[in-house]
Amino acid sequence: MSERVIPLVDQRTAALAARVPAMPVAPTGLLTDARGRPLRDLRISVTDRCNFRCNYCMPKEVFDKGYPYLPHSDLLSFEEITRLTSVFLGHGVRKIRLTGGEPLLRRNIEALISQLAALRTVDGNPPEITLTTNGSLLARKARALREAGLQRVTVSLDGLDDAVFQRMNDVGFPVADVLEGIDAARHAGLHPVKVNMVVKRGTNEHEILPMAKHFRGTGVILRFIEYMDVGATNGWRMDEVLPSAEVIERLRAELPLVPLDPAAPGETAERWGHANAQGHHDPALGEVGVISSVTKAFCGDCNRARLSTEGQLYLCLFATQGHDLRSLLRSGASDTDIASAIGPIWQGRSDRYSELRGTLPADARQGTRRVEMSYIGG
Ligand code: GTP
Ligand code: 5AD
Ligand code: SF4
Ligand code: SF4
Repeated sequence: MSERVIPLVDQRTAALAARVPAMPVAPTGLLTDARGRPLRDLRISVTDRCNFRCNYCMPKEVFDKGYPYLPHSDLLSFEEITRLTSVFLGHGVRKIRLTGGEPLLRRNIEALISQLAALRTVDGNPPEITLTTNGSLLARKARALREAGLQRVTVSLDGLDDAVFQRMNDVGFPVADVLEGIDAARHAGLHPVKVNMVVKRGTNEHEILPMAKHFRGTGVILRFIEYMDVGATNGWRMDEVLPSAEVIERLRAELPLVPLDPAAPGETAERWGHANAQGHHDPALGEVGVISSVTKAFCGDCNRARLSTEGQLYLCLFATQGHDLRSLLRSGASDTDIASAIGPIWQGRSDRYSELRGTLPADARQGTRRVEMSYIGG
């Protein structure tokens, strides 16, 4: 059993102030950070709660009855989220992802989606709106989400074997109900549905091939994610990471796969297409992806900003501090003020944790005041 590092202080109190600079920063859509990376993708955590206890994300021992979840008054309201999002769109954001915790636990999330769907990017287009869910409430909600303006969903599923999956979600949730949610999403037109599988060596590695076979030819895009050292509670160990290269090797031993070009700049996943007998990608059979944030960092073109449940802006999944936009918002700041405050924060961004991971001493990686993924959003 590895030692768990339990955070001693509430990391969320350590926010940096977001200040309005003397010179306004106009929302031109052209903002870039200290490494020349634009701002394109905004991931919004709408709740820090979840009905699962995945051991790599919200281990039961930490996220128990006594865990200090945020009180409702600390959460950004839908109006506040929509207002901040419109400012982010002015700085170049094109894609919005709702996350959590489990975003479908936030009451009337459809109302937020329809408010966001009415916004426009700097090019005058509707933003792409997507959501990451554990799928438990999807069968019930897929149609309403689609009608509210959600375009697609990503569902987390770590295996097809009930014993394996239930051990990982740690609340005994059955595979069949998640599969039902995935089907409901497909039928509701939330295309393409993506499925994320976090691979842990020794835990669910035997599920890799059955998962690939199951989703081949269904239109669902399955992605294998390397288990990451995110947060400070999951007791991460490198020997539990199964490198993506090995995942692909295992798949190719049984299923013909050919590499595909990236669909968009800054994409997290490397794509592989299922091939036909001639060795060419067959779109009808679909594709799989691998997300290699441990063995092949993709910080170089990372264009993702994260807005926490209580309105702090995080510049990296592995950041230790956020920038407090909520106080600014609640102080009566104008949209111009907020846009101006975000400008220098993004311009000063030089985060690239995954690229540096290997060079950091172990004590700089573990036991830091790093925020949890359930709070900041995957
Ligand atoms: P689409 O392909 O457009 O659906 O989006 P995506 O790949 O950005 O989305 P998703 O939220 O499904 O990301 C998949 C997984 O990749 C997440 O659950 C994380 O494990 C990982 N990931 C996403 N963004 C980052 C990031 O910025 N840094 C790191 N290190 N990992 C990330
Ligand atoms: N490593 C990799 N992926 C993770 N996720 C949560 N915690 C981790 C981790 N430690 C993923 C989940 C889900 C999304 C919300 O984040 O699988 O797809
Ligand atoms: Fe919940 Fe997703 Fe975290 Fe699992 S990975 S505990 S489903 S937020
Ligand atoms: Fe972006 Fe940070 Fe992830 Fe690198 S580690 S890809 S900078 S969020």
